[in-house]
Amino acid sequence: MMGLIVTDFLLANYLWLKAFHIIAVISWMAGMLYLPRLYVYHVKATKGSELSETLKVMERRLLRFIINPAMIVAFVFGGLMLWLNPDLFQQPWMHTKLTAVILLTAVHGLYARWRKQFERDANQHSEKFYRYWNEVPTILMIIIVVMVVVRPL
Ligand code: HEM
Repeated sequence: MMGLIVTDFLLANYLWLKAFHIIAVISWMAGMLYLPRLYVYHVKATKGSELSETLKVMERRLLRFIINPAMIVAFVFGGLMLWLNPDLFQQPWMHTKLTAVILLTAVHGLYARWRKQFERDANQHSEKFYRYWNEVPTILMIIIVVMVVVRPL
């Protein structure tokens, strides 16, 4: 009985779920597009310098207080909508979207690993490397938004 009331409430407020989902993905994307920019500057900063130590604080706060929570909220509201609307799982455009989302989450994991390397003054990659990786979330975001809005498949 309680389950039914909750489901009815969520279905009646489906557009609120979608709105919070979109707010969360905007925050997630903002962080994913900004963090590798900090890595590009961090590569050039002298180890132990004031700039390097400041960038470490910025990277840690960006990841912990914006990117990680935003990803979790995007998954929760996206997952809730899929739970309420399981037919979406049959859609080829949703398959492509979720594949791109899984790749985006893997890139998130790489960014977190590289942040730890910078924190230990053990970065192994060049400025050019991070400039390339900066483009990957952009490409995935374009695929995701086109799939879920235009639904070309
Ligand atoms: C994190 C895992 C994600 C899941 C499980 C998920 C799932 C969903 C679902 C089920 C919908 C509702 C579709 C409908 O009812 O019409 C939706 C809408 C949407 N999603 Fe996601 N999504 C995720 C991540 C993302 C990401 C990373 C982006 C953007 C980069 C994104 C952008 C959107 C947009 C723009 C809509 C609204 C589409 C519309 O109403 O026209 N989603 N998502």
